[in-house]
Amino acid sequence: MKIGQAPRGREGVFAHYYTILYYYETFNKIFLRVFGILNSELKRVGASSRNFFHRSSAILFPSLAIRGKKIDVPIVQGGMGVGISLFPLAAAVAREGGLGIISSAGLDLLVSRRKGKRVNSYEAAYEEVSLAKESGGQHVGINIMVALARDYEESVKGAIDAGADVIISGAGLPLGLPLIRPSGPSGETALIPIVSSARALEVVCRKWEKAGRRPDAAVLEGPLAGGHLGFKIDELDMESNRLENLLPAVKDVALKHGDFPIIVAGGIYSHTDIARFLLMGASGVQMGTRFLATEESGASHEYKQAVVSAKKEDMLVAHNPGSPCGLPFRVIRQSPMFASALKRLRAPKCDKGYVLQRDPAGKFTRCPAKQDNENYFCICNGLLSSAGYDTAEEPLFTAGTNACRVDRILSVHDLMEELKH
Ligand SMILES: Cc1cc2nc3c(=O)[nH]c(=O)nc-3n(C[C@H](O)[C@H](O)[C@H](O)COP(=O)(O)O)c2cc1C
Repeated sequence: MKIGQAPRGREGVFAHYYTILYYYETFNKIFLRVFGILNSELKRVGASSRNFFHRSSAILFPSLAIRGKKIDVPIVQGGMGVGISLFPLAAAVAREGGLGIISSAGLDLLVSRRKGKRVNSYEAAYEEVSLAKESGGQHVGINIMVALARDYEESVKGAIDAGADVIISGAGLPLGLPLIRPSGPSGETALIPIVSSARALEVVCRKWEKAGRRPDAAVLEGPLAGGHLGFKIDELDMESNRLENLLPAVKDVALKHGDFPIIVAGGIYSHTDIARFLLMGASGVQMGTRFLATEESGASHEYKQAVVSAKKEDMLVAHNPGSPCGLPFRVIRQSPMFASALKRLRAPKCDKGYVLQRDPAGKFTRCPAKQDNENYFCICNGLLSSAGYDTAEEPLFTAGTNACRVDRILSVHDLMEELKH
């Protein structure tokens, strides 16, 4: 090869390879040098690179971009049913720059009571999303669980028609979500599945791609979360199922299907936790328990107090007796309904029917908690009761493992300030 002539063929490929390698190594050396100086500087002032983000208020979290929308603070307040995340909580979070999420669970009953007239699940989702959007925040969405099969489609349509920025959907794989067509245009609402494994996300992506859609983001929820858990009971403590260990493979799937953002959930409590997961490659975090214990949450006073008083040993995963949805469900031991169910004292009422499954004739008539008092408790009535709705049944308190760290009820503003800095 003559000097000045561009290399060709096999020789050319190697020449390019070595050029890239040279630049890569030089970049690496500079990066390590800067990191080394930074680290020794931090040590000198008594910090470390691990808690650097915690100590320095100068470093701000990057914003979270979903379907062209910029969420200033990459904190998603997790949807919490029944009646915990209604429009006052979602709007308060949105006003602080985060993404506020309403829960669709039992919303028709709660909105009907508030309005003093009966509304259906379409109208309830429409009303709640509209109110949250009118309350001055930037971005609000709704959580609609697949397990709420009877009302699923109508809730999705109501939310999209009201202009929800996002729909987040889990407690089952939301395979049919992109196929639901609202009466108005649907282009602006981002669709976000909740998964607990890379395999589940792959299944969702493949199914959605057949419908001409990709997830706009995905929530990866680990085993420390509150509510229903996407793991078998004996998989909850596995090292491979720790959130940080699930993240790399889930990110690979997202990269393969359009490089959409991954939002991690389950056990995230502090500013340091958020910084740690952002450094690992997450684009945002979803938090439930911290927002459960805020002034704006719809939980009853008794429920919030149970969270504040909870100790580590009080955080249990109920499965027998458990949720009629068939998924492990994290509860606070002192929940009156759980305590009665453990003693097999609970008398089933089960008159709400949100988690009804289809019978062989295709009608929504079957709920395990209706027939079987030994193995199931009624989450519809228990959770409605926890939000102060009179159900004639005892309350049921769900929360994430971190409930035992919560020592006071904060306003959303104070909580967001604590998390941001
Ligand atoms: C009281 C409560 C109710 C919840 N309800 C729902 C729900 O209706 N749908 C859902 O997908 N997740 C639900 N979750 C899960 C949260 O949205 C969130 O992902 C989870 O709590 C994150 O874990 P953390 O509580 O450790 O922050 C609930 C969690 C709590 C604490």
